[in-house]
Amino acid sequence: MTVNLYDHVESIPDFPEKGIVFRDILPLMANGEAFKQATAELAQFARERGVEMVVGPEARGFIVGCPIAYDLGVGFAPARKKGKLPRPAVSATYDLEYGSATLQMEHDAIKPGQKVLVVDDLLATGGTILATIDLVEQMGGIVVGCAFLVDLKDLHGMERLKDYDVKALMEFS
Ligand code: PRP
Ligand code: HPA
Repeated sequence: MTVNLYDHVESIPDFPEKGIVFRDILPLMANGEAFKQATAELAQFARERGVEMVVGPEARGFIVGCPIAYDLGVGFAPARKKGKLPRPAVSATYDLEYGSATLQMEHDAIKPGQKVLVVDDLLATGGTILATIDLVEQMGGIVVGCAFLVDLKDLHGMERLKDYDVKALMEFS
């Protein structure tokens, strides 16, 4: 039976601040059937594009990305928050509401020409995923797809990803 994924996202008003409705995807991850179905749908998207490597940003991109990589039988490479990696790294900085943040990947995590799926739990402004794409492209990887559980469409991240092939399983205003 098909699961309605929307039934497994909780909307929390006024978090992290007044006026924001936070879409919490942890209930989806906690439900075996829903998590399996979401993983299978995103893995199918990746399979159709010949993905050879999956990349996801810290922290929730790891949770969504690893089972997709496992399903495909390809590797997973994390984009980590700055200062965590022991070996030489590539870096990309992106804007936050207040200030900025930097993501890093080990410099040889992606081979030139490798076909990469970039994945995260949720697309908001697109800053995190564009920084992750930047890291992959610095290493010569080809981003053949971007995959999300949720697109917060009013934040227009999809427009910033117009040059990429993007799939989101759910949309919220
Ligand atoms: C959240 C979410 C995405 C990002 C989306 O992560 O998991 O990675 O924000 O926002 P954007 O499209 O505006 O960049 P957060 O930065 O809260 O980090 P976390 O996964 O470590 O909680
Ligand atoms: N839910 C989860 N993560 C987020 C959200 C949200 O609504 N907005 C920005 N990051």
